[in-house]
Amino acid sequence: MEMFSLSGKVALITGASSGIGKAVASRFQAAGANVINADRLPPDSEPEHFVQTDVSLETELRAALEFARNKYGRLDILVNNAGIQPLGVPFNELTESILKRTFEVNVNGVAFGLKLAAEMLENEGRVINTASFVGLLGIPSGTAYATSKAAVIHLTKCGAIELASRGITVNAVAPGTIETPAVTEIPDNPEIPFVSSRTPLGRLGSPEEVAAAFHFLASTEASYISGATIPVDGGIAAGWEKYDLTAPAEISPEGVWHDPES
Ligand SMILES: NC(=O)c1ccc[n+]([C@@H]2O[C@H](COP(=O)([O-])OP(=O)(O)OC[C@H]3O[C@@H](n4cnc5c(N)ncnc54)[C@H](O)[C@@H]3O)[C@@H](O)[C@H]2O)c1
Repeated sequence: MEMFSLSGKVALITGASSGIGKAVASRFQAAGANVINADRLPPDSEPEHFVQTDVSLETELRAALEFARNKYGRLDILVNNAGIQPLGVPFNELTESILKRTFEVNVNGVAFGLKLAAEMLENEGRVINTASFVGLLGIPSGTAYATSKAAVIHLTKCGAIELASRGITVNAVAPGTIETPAVTEIPDNPEIPFVSSRTPLGRLGSPEEVAAAFHFLASTEASYISGATIPVDGGIAAGWEKYDLTAPAEISPEGVWHDPES
């Protein structure tokens, strides 16, 4: 049997007209899956089936899942990926509108996805949510977004528990800063040099590098992983990039540890 094959599987990916979702769609198709793209905006080209969907509206997301099931007779994989990224907004600029839309799309969209997956996914199915490294770390000027992604990580845990009775696994991928239109189309985006210089691997990630983790989590090989959030971030969430310290007296200049006298 071919490893990591998705042959015969049907996958619905939200937000697959661009960026990470688009790369996940290509990768799933290359692995043999039939893919449906549920995005608010149409894709440039249309290699997969497109259903115009605003994930913040349960009725529209339900219609997209029903389309997939009517077309292929089953739905195995749901990728809750669509999201908006209102970064660069400190508390004094935070508005009801920013908070409302961020949570409607990034949180309600994933919660509705889990609700519908519980109802419509095949047994042993897969749900994979797109979180973010800023859902794991506190950052300045990103409260609405970072908090919404922390909620995605917790939704992943709650979903893993509740959907386990049908053998469905629920996991999340937490990307670092990735070269997608959401990042690269911001003129002179200061995030790019800032994050590159602070990422242990020294660069941004590509959508394809993130898609590889989605592919693994979607595969049969990942059957015992559930409730997990996997960072794909060049190591940026591993810890502080700088930490000024001096070694204690117990360590000699030769690097030998001397326990203090008792
Ligand atoms: N690019 C990054 O650095 C990065 C890092 C961490 C997490 N993420 C997350 O990855 C996901 C994809 O982001 P991306 O960078 O590929 O962005 P992107 O803007 O390139 O793509 C996002 C897609 O989601 C769609 N979308 C937005 N709102 C929607 C809605 N209400 N209903 C349906 N579709 C909607 C957009 O039309 C677009 O096609 C998001 O959840 C984002 O928060 C991105």
